[in-house]
Amino acid sequence: MKKNNAWWYDGIIYQIYPRSFADSNGDGFGDLVGITSRLDYLHELGVDAIWLSPFFPSPDADFGYDVSDYTDVDPRYGSLADFDQLLAAAHEKGIRVILDMVLNHTSDQHAWFMQSRLSRENPQRDWYIWQNPGPGGRVPNNWQASFGGSAWEFDPTSGQYYLHSFLKEQPDLNWRCPAVRQAILDVFRFWLERGVDGFRLDVFNAYFKDSQFRSNPPRFGLRVFDRQQHIHDLNQPEMIDLLQELRKLLDSYPDRYAVGETFITPTEKAMQYVGDDRLHAIFSFDFFESQLSFPWKPRWLMDRTIQRDKLFDKAGVQPTTVLGNHDQIRTASRYCKDGTDHQARIAMALLLTLRGTPYLYYGEEIGMRDIQLSRAEIMDPPGKKYWPVYKGRDGCRSPMQWSSELNAGFSRSKPWLKVHPDYPNRNVAGQQTDPDSMQNFTRKLIALRRAHAALRGDNFRLLPQREKSVIAFERKQDDEQILVYLNFSGASRTVTIETTGANQAAQILLTSGTRQGLNLTDSTISLQAYEVLILKV
Ligand code: NOJ
Repeated sequence: MKKNNAWWYDGIIYQIYPRSFADSNGDGFGDLVGITSRLDYLHELGVDAIWLSPFFPSPDADFGYDVSDYTDVDPRYGSLADFDQLLAAAHEKGIRVILDMVLNHTSDQHAWFMQSRLSRENPQRDWYIWQNPGPGGRVPNNWQASFGGSAWEFDPTSGQYYLHSFLKEQPDLNWRCPAVRQAILDVFRFWLERGVDGFRLDVFNAYFKDSQFRSNPPRFGLRVFDRQQHIHDLNQPEMIDLLQELRKLLDSYPDRYAVGETFITPTEKAMQYVGDDRLHAIFSFDFFESQLSFPWKPRWLMDRTIQRDKLFDKAGVQPTTVLGNHDQIRTASRYCKDGTDHQARIAMALLLTLRGTPYLYYGEEIGMRDIQLSRAEIMDPPGKKYWPVYKGRDGCRSPMQWSSELNAGFSRSKPWLKVHPDYPNRNVAGQQTDPDSMQNFTRKLIALRRAHAALRGDNFRLLPQREKSVIAFERKQDDEQILVYLNFSGASRTVTIETTGANQAAQILLTSGTRQGLNLTDSTISLQAYEVLILKV
């Protein structure tokens, strides 16, 4: 039985990276009016909510994840009035809006930090994390910034170091300071009052740090950052109380939602942050880990999914399924090594038929690939730092491919980041008219998920198969039983189907293949190459 009737429990959430989605004023930069103009498309696709990556004023050291004002809109994206219009238009179509709150750190250009760094005596000094130098002027401890180097930056004006878990342009807020806590809760109030439906909390489990600033103990790892156990700069116990306070605030408005991005923390541990008196959800990134192996291992992914579901069930909360986001290589680039969309379709079928709230990253529905950049073109700071070992995250942030027109129909002028060269053949408009396109396949899956409670519910049963390249599972609710078969291989595969009288009357809900009927012989079905087959029995 489905445990919760809230919209987010099985709603489909579509992530928009605003600067790359749609440019309404021809400056090469996506904006809020552009998003509003595409709501019809999103509505027809069938999504329940959009999550907007940050559009707040930002000097862009980390492309918006360095915010210099939490209660305004960066002029490149428009104005607060544009936001209100976007929100109203989305609500009119039944689409909820989730904002991305980046609150572990601000930009170094935020007025709070500009004050804080003025002097040790400044009243806002303790809004950030300042420490005296260690012996010989050294850094206060061994904490590392996730984007490379020490997490401490020396400030010559006051002779102290400040902490930054990411770039030095992203100083960490001091969440132990009561005034910070109040100021941030006011930020939430500001957006709740405007009517937003929820929040995604960026690296929230990093908010609190060890009050004694103890160094992290060592462990094995590749990067210096990975060569320590992050026990003193992450996951501090004070987080729970803060989440409880935030949840009370959210619950004082109807139907609000918060999902957290847990930073390098095993799901087992992250579960402490989810529940009726804390966050509604946290991301589970099992799909991303599958990129470490190619070809991706269906069995391994299923095992992970089952483990994930067990953990979430134990805690009594709904899992999430995430195919891609603005930090990861796109799904199609990860899995489609042969130039076709077969594996991307299988991934999409998993996303929309597994348990859990599905998160879809813009462009995934048309199988967009990462762009390739030369070293000179790379903009993302970690990409610049670690090239060629790591090329950064620009690849998955290229402009949405709307049509075969100039700049993929994204903008009248040169886009801020180049468009993928495959756009003349891979775009929304072209795929809309092709019944067999990835987009129409996604649309059908979304429609199926909406139409069949069994696909949204909590019931999942793996149907063991002899063929390693096949996954089959059952989704069931009340009298409805749905079977999902996925053939990851390029050859046809025979699968068994449990024999009950009802199976003989199985109905095809969806196939990515060309089959006309089922031809159920001896309780077996022959799946076509790469076929996704969904049956109702
Ligand atoms: C996680 C975000 O997803 C990523 O894009 C960002 O760079 C870091 N947090 C720092 O805010």
